[in-house]
Amino acid sequence: MAATSVQVAAIGGNITPRMAKTSDPSSSHSNPLGDELRATRAAKPCVLVIFGATGDLTKRKLVPSLMGLAKDGLLPPGFAVVGFARRAWSDEGFRTECADGVRQFGRSQTPECFDALGDAFTFHQSDFGDRAGYESLKKKLEQIDRSRGTAGNRIFYLATPPSSYSAILQNLAATGLSTEKDGKFARVIVEKPFGRDIATAVALNDQVRAAFRERQVFRIDHYLGKETVQNILALRFANGIFEPLWNEKFVDHVQITVAESIGVGSRGGYFEESGIIRDMIQNHLMQVLTLVAMEPPTSLTADAVRDEKVKVLKAIRSFRPEDVDSNTVRAQYTRGSFGGEEVKGYKNEEGVAAESVTETYAAVRLHVDNWRWARTPFFLRSGKRLPRRVTEVAITFKQPPLSLFDGGRWQTPNVLLLRIQPDEGVALRFGAKVPGPDVHIRDVRMDFRYGTAFASESADAYERLLFDSMLGDGTLFARADEVEEAWRIVDSIVAGWKHSARRPEEYVAGTWGPERADSLLGPGRTWRKP
Ligand code: BG6
Repeated sequence: MAATSVQVAAIGGNITPRMAKTSDPSSSHSNPLGDELRATRAAKPCVLVIFGATGDLTKRKLVPSLMGLAKDGLLPPGFAVVGFARRAWSDEGFRTECADGVRQFGRSQTPECFDALGDAFTFHQSDFGDRAGYESLKKKLEQIDRSRGTAGNRIFYLATPPSSYSAILQNLAATGLSTEKDGKFARVIVEKPFGRDIATAVALNDQVRAAFRERQVFRIDHYLGKETVQNILALRFANGIFEPLWNEKFVDHVQITVAESIGVGSRGGYFEESGIIRDMIQNHLMQVLTLVAMEPPTSLTADAVRDEKVKVLKAIRSFRPEDVDSNTVRAQYTRGSFGGEEVKGYKNEEGVAAESVTETYAAVRLHVDNWRWARTPFFLRSGKRLPRRVTEVAITFKQPPLSLFDGGRWQTPNVLLLRIQPDEGVALRFGAKVPGPDVHIRDVRMDFRYGTAFASESADAYERLLFDSMLGDGTLFARADEVEEAWRIVDSIVAGWKHSARRPEEYVAGTWGPERADSLLGPGRTWRKP
């Protein structure tokens, strides 16, 4: 059997041509995709310092993801984690919490990885504003370099509330920890929220730049680490059939939905300050939009991809305050039921003001003023307490010029559906003749599912992003200008809402949002009910 040539295209990495091994068809255990799925990029030894290590993110996401990397053999040989936080935890206490997180939230077999790697985790107690804590951290890191072979490379992960970022950044700079020298790297990963409007985002970018250069900075948007989000670029640019149709001549409109069935839970206090527009739309939905709408980049390097993404954001029209009501709908969930269980309305959630006007649902019509999309609106919606957790992009195509079937009643448009989560895959909806002597048309689907096409457990988004930060590959991270442009658009919406006499609509928890959201789409269009 002849060997076939495959290309492992990792978005954000170089495309590495490799020869696939000749697979042995007689072996039922050989995975024909095994070679394709193996990474060709290797991370250098390093220490990951997590600021705010006693928080939820470390336990739920970061440590389980590190163990996912360990399971897949992707952690560098010299590797260590230092948890930095105010609380008086011991190394042992930190390890116990981490082990617990891996058991609860990790992939299969990752708890065993933690058993083997646990002693690479240590704890460092200090206030974020205490300079002495950083001096002693520096010494500790040097000692770890000697004992664990981490080679002087550091990644600082800001997993604290944003109010602590400034103190941490200043101290990292003042103690020289942010300086790269002798070929050793120092990088910083910044968690969202990245500001709460353009002014605070610019100020934060300035603070970050006072300590680090842009290429050292990795602003996390975990949606970019999702396989299916990365697949948007693969679908568009690795195939010849979609791109010719990917424009205003053929696409009627695009719907981007990020629906969640959960409510705000214990995060009411945070949510009151952010609302769905800042929590989801400014970052996750805008990032997905840029990948759907961008022009082909000249390569897959970080700046080539991000240059194109930022151009899309720049082309999106800001709203004048008086135009916001006709282009957006915001709403709040009221008491309702899920699977027979009663759930609270938003105003009754912990930490939420009784007279709150914070939106838990928003739908927005955006216009991308460029040659490709000038007449194609993008509709974005996101909400809590919607019937299902689903993220999808629906590219809805224009109708054929003349409807010949079913007496002209066949009007269902073709939809290319990118299912980001769950049930990850891509589907194409089109009309087909119903078998029989009469000519009737019904819509059918061609369906690709990740789960069946690639028999592998898919990694958490944080795994990919942590790995890329170790490689120094910023493609899947937001650049300063992207963040600021997204705020420009969102700020104009928020300003319009402030100026508006209209209060948020209401929707019953467990329904697809307020009725007015339908009118946003315009005649002949409806929101998908996934
Ligand atoms: C976070 C938001 O960024 O994303 C949360 O702050 C939201 O409110 C979460 O629940 C959704 O992420 P995912 O990966 O579960 O879709």
